Amino acid sequence: MSQQATPQEAAIHQQQRKSLRVVVMVSGSGSNLQVLIDAMQAGALPIDIVGVISNREDAYAITRAQQAGIDVAVLSHTASGKRMAIRTFETHASAQFATWQPDLIVLAGFMRVLSADFIDNAPAPMINLHPSLLPVYKGMQTHQRAIQAGARYHGCSVHLVTAELDAGQVLTQAMLPVSAKDTADSLQARVQKLEHKLLPWTILLLTNGVISLNVNEQNVAKATYLPTLPLQLFINS
Ligand code: GRF
Repeated sequence: MSQQATPQEAAIHQQQRKSLRVVVMVSGSGSNLQVLIDAMQAGALPIDIVGVISNREDAYAITRAQQAGIDVAVLSHTASGKRMAIRTFETHASAQFATWQPDLIVLAGFMRVLSADFIDNAPAPMINLHPSLLPVYKGMQTHQRAIQAGARYHGCSVHLVTAELDAGQVLTQAMLPVSAKDTADSLQARVQKLEHKLLPWTILLLTNGVISLNVNEQNVAKATYLPTLPLQLFINS
């Protein structure tokens, strides 16, 4: 019979376990990136954010990454000052992936539509945080649309990225009731608090194997769960 590890041995074992190499793609404030940085630094998530890609040079997310000492690639303009075409962006992003060797690519407030070619050839599964309870309200202005539709519940989803916009397999969702007083702004603020919980929770579920992503021969990822789910986390905002 094998001897049980002491708490110290268990702690060392935990530290030695390989961290998931994560690349985060951003376009804006990066509050979700910050939550991941904080969780990583606190040792609460076994991840190593090996790089951040921003498609905007004015994204505050860049400052957050730099303050944490994380490599950043700003892929917004070409050397001649022209805004980067998506193909050029993707060529540079692929080169960064080759350098950083991610196990997981996280789109956290990343606002450019990526080509099928880029998604299909990504070197790691790609997940996206979307501010609605997919499959409803794909695309933009989700909070406004939820209010206009008189939705009773709203929330956010983490899903696999596929060529079809916001249509990949949903991994996790968090929801809240919409109040009669909600405006698009108040709803956005409340949903964003949920996002800050859902994204690290989802990555934790991936790192500890509750959700596993299996990639087939066509490089298409599919999630399977330890329990039979799609997992819906009901989190207080
Ligand atoms: C999030 O609210 C996300 O739902 C949307 O963009 C926002 C990004 O926020 N797609 P941040 O950059 O993480 O602060």
